[in-house]
Amino acid sequence: MISPAMKLAGAIITALAALSNAHEHQQRDNSPAPVYAPLPPGAVSPALPAAGYITYPLGGGAYMVTDNVYQALFLVSSQGVILVDAPPSIGERLLYAIGNITSLPVRKFIYSHSHADHVEGASIFQSSETEYIGHRETAGFLMAEGDINRPVPTNTFSGTRTIRLGNQTLELSYKGLNHHPGNIFIYAPAQKVLMLVDVIFPGWAPFIELAFASNFRGYLEAHDQVLSYDFTAFVGGHLSRVGVREDVLRQREYVQDLLQECKRVINGNTTVDVLGIVGQVTAANPGNAWATFKTYYDTAAEACAKPTIAKYLKVLGGVDVTGISNALRTITALRIDYGVLGPFGVVRN
Ligand SMILES: *[C@@H]1O[C@H](CO)[C@@H](O)[C@H](O)[C@H]1NC(C)=O
Ligand SMILES: *[C@@H]1O[C@H](CO)[C@@H](O)[C@H](O)[C@H]1NC(C)=O
Ligand SMILES: *[C@@H]1O[C@H](CO)[C@@H](O)[C@H](O)[C@H]1NC(C)=O
Ligand SMILES: [Zn+2]
Repeated sequence: MISPAMKLAGAIITALAALSNAHEHQQRDNSPAPVYAPLPPGAVSPALPAAGYITYPLGGGAYMVTDNVYQALFLVSSQGVILVDAPPSIGERLLYAIGNITSLPVRKFIYSHSHADHVEGASIFQSSETEYIGHRETAGFLMAEGDINRPVPTNTFSGTRTIRLGNQTLELSYKGLNHHPGNIFIYAPAQKVLMLVDVIFPGWAPFIELAFASNFRGYLEAHDQVLSYDFTAFVGGHLSRVGVREDVLRQREYVQDLLQECKRVINGNTTVDVLGIVGQVTAANPGNAWATFKTYYDTAAEACAKPTIAKYLKVLGGVDVTGISNALRTITALRIDYGVLGPFGVVRN
């Protein structure tokens, strides 16, 4: 039974919701789009041709294909092609990119990791002759997803695996958690090309939350693991260009700086009155623990991001876009992984 009073209450709620929606729209329409700092030269992409992709030869039959946002790698041998990743944004244009180099088919498809934004085009290359290869963790995720666009790899491994086709060799290695379980290092020793996806972004700051790093320590350590390889070309899976060692060193310094700055802020060595701001929000929202903690995280992240954004603004593209989010990820790691709790440490009697 719906009483007239309930009907009236319902109508008022609906009207209020409509009003607040209208208000939100108005605010959105009136607020100008944010304008971020100009990109430093190392982050600027070349113009994309009408074909929608660019193919970069890396020597010895290795090629990187990009649409300026996502990247794939392929190696041409006398027996066919080895392809690593198939971003949906490049899609079937990857067939053209390969077709303009060789008429041989893709015989081996390697998953860098399971994420759909990098491999949702995998099934484009499906045939009775295509072997799908990936880490055991990747196979597990893909089995659980049951996505027909990402065939479950039949050739799986847990530590290392060497893939050979004709004259081409790729060394696959899993070194533990960084971006996502099963994210592997892919190395072409003849060409000195190394691929590791969603960890290092040549010329750019990492995307938000350190590109959603599932493990902060592993993410930071991956920079040293990359540097332990003898490579001249690095394929990071994102943006427009091929990376070099200098890009890896610079990003490692950025993440280390974030770690030091955020540690400093948590320990109270900052000009920002973090606890004062948290106190005001707590007083205005008594009993609302989430308001208190969200304010703490946001205020600390902003304080910690500020010096790193200033330092890298002319060095890493988009650091003013993702810097605060990257600081928030760092603060989370310091608190829950490293046990750096500052004012929220163990209560002593
Ligand atoms: C392998 O063979 C391809 C095609 O014949 C050639 O383009 C490439 O340079 C060779 N690469 C290596 C590493 O021998
Ligand atoms: C070569 O690339 C162009 C542009 O993407 C495409 O139209 C053409 O079909 C490609 N050729 C082959 C053989 O794939
Ligand atoms: C606070 O941070 C500054 C800058 O990093 C440092 O020089 C100083 O020693 C720190 N002070 C304390 C008490 O840790
Ligand atoms: Zn990913």
